[in-house]
Formats: sequence, C-alpha cells, structure tokens
Amino acid sequence: MSKLFSSIVDLPDHDSTYELGYKLGQRCPKGTILLLFGDLGAGKTTLVQGLGAGLEIAEPISSPTFTLVNEYLEGRIPLYHADLYRLEMSQVDALELEEVYCEGGEMPPGVLAIEWAERMSERPQRAITLRLEHAARGGRQAMLMVHGNVQIALLKNVIGDGLLVDEV
Ligand SMILES: Nc1ncnc2c1ncn2[C@@H]1O[C@H](COP(=O)(O)OP(=O)(O)O)[C@@H](O)[C@H]1O
Ligand SMILES: [Mg+2]
Repeated sequence: MSKLFSSIVDLPDHDSTYELGYKLGQRCPKGTILLLFGDLGAGKTTLVQGLGAGLEIAEPISSPTFTLVNEYLEGRIPLYHADLYRLEMSQVDALELEEVYCEGGEMPPGVLAIEWAERMSERPQRAITLRLEHAARGGRQAMLMVHGNVQIALLKNVIGDGLLVDEV
C-alpha cells in the first residue's frame, strides 16, 4: 500500500528557511521535484537559495520571475528554478517542466524547484510538496508532504519524524 508522509516545521527566521532548503539540497537525488506553495513573501525563493547552496552551486540564486526558469548546471546535480506566478494554467502545461528538466527530455536531469505550483493543473505524484505560510512573530511555518517510500525516507532524513498514513 502506498504511504503518505506529512509534517509541519517551524521556521522562525530567514536562516531556518534557508537551512531547510540546504538540507534538502544536500540529499535529494536527480529527478526530485519540489513544489512550492505560498503567498508573495512567504519565503519560497529563500528556500531555493538554500537548496542551491546544498547542491554546491556557488552562483547566487535569484528569483526567476521574468525568465520563467533559471538553470544552474555547475553543482552536484543541476538545479532548475521555475516561477509560474505570471502564467496561466494552460501556459504552464505547455512548458512540460517535468519532461524537460527531470526526465532527460532536453536538459540533464536535475532538481526542479517550482514557485507558485498553484498554477499547475497536474502535479506530479512523486513531488515533494512544501507550503509556506506566515506564522506568529514574523516567522513562517512549512507544511511538507510526500508520497512513496523513497521520498518519505529522504524527508524523514531532513526533518525527522512526522505523520505517516496509508493512502486509500
Ligand atoms: N522563516 C522566515 N521568517 C521570517 N522571514 C523570512 C523567513 N523566510 C524568509 N523570510 C524573508 O521573507 C522575505 C521574502 O522571502 P522570499 O523568499 O523572497 O519569498 P517568496 O519567494 O515566497 O516571495 C525575505 O525578506 C526573506 O528574508
Ligand atoms: Mg519568490
């Protein structure tokens, strides 16, 4: 039976958001998809900056708002950083992000981090879902969710225990 793992992580300041991304970057394999949800200013780009550092990318990670996808090929494995804020769902589907960046369609398979994953009509089942929300005292709260044993093991490694349930 397939399992679902979820957890809530408190991120009291900028550095803890960065650190969560960093730990994911150190451990995630090629083909990892990170779906980032959350309002403007929630900390999505900050998390991807940590992710890039964890992937040993020295180049500064900036918001891809105007370029759609920024590509970083110098790290342990490539990082592809997308921001879908300005797109309609039909435009997002046409980008075929998963095929191009995770399945070797056009680019060497890497880690695909997607800001404004709300804009995707179909979300890959194997993705790590990460929702950032504003919390008390100016901090943030991250809600993480994954399916399947491989992703669950990865996430447990990064954040420790959480809630594990059988999927119906
Ligand atoms: N856990 C946190 N607590 C407080 N501020 C944070 C936290 N994480 C990120 N920030 C700050 O929030 C602001 C917006 O972050 P950013 O990553 O650009 O958000 P987004 O990409 O979601 O719009 C930045 O000033 C960043 O330093
Ligand atoms: Mg951003």
